[in-house]
Amino acid sequence: MENREICHCMGVTYADIETAMHSTEKFSDVLETFKHVQEVTSCSTGCGGCYNDILEVISEIMYA
Ligand code: FES
Repeated sequence: MENREICHCMGVTYADIETAMHSTEKFSDVLETFKHVQEVTSCSTGCGGCYNDILEVISEIMYA
């Protein structure tokens, strides 16, 4: 599977986000899931430029 880097500041990849999402019970809300993923991976805590991309990946995985 494709494993691209989504957050360049923190080096967080697609697979890191997926793993973080599976480390907890399913959230129904993208923003809530984002908070969890951010706690686990520190994604989007640098320049913040990846914010939309992270949300996109989360929705992609959630609704896959
Ligand atoms: S690319 Fe993610 S915080 Fe800068």
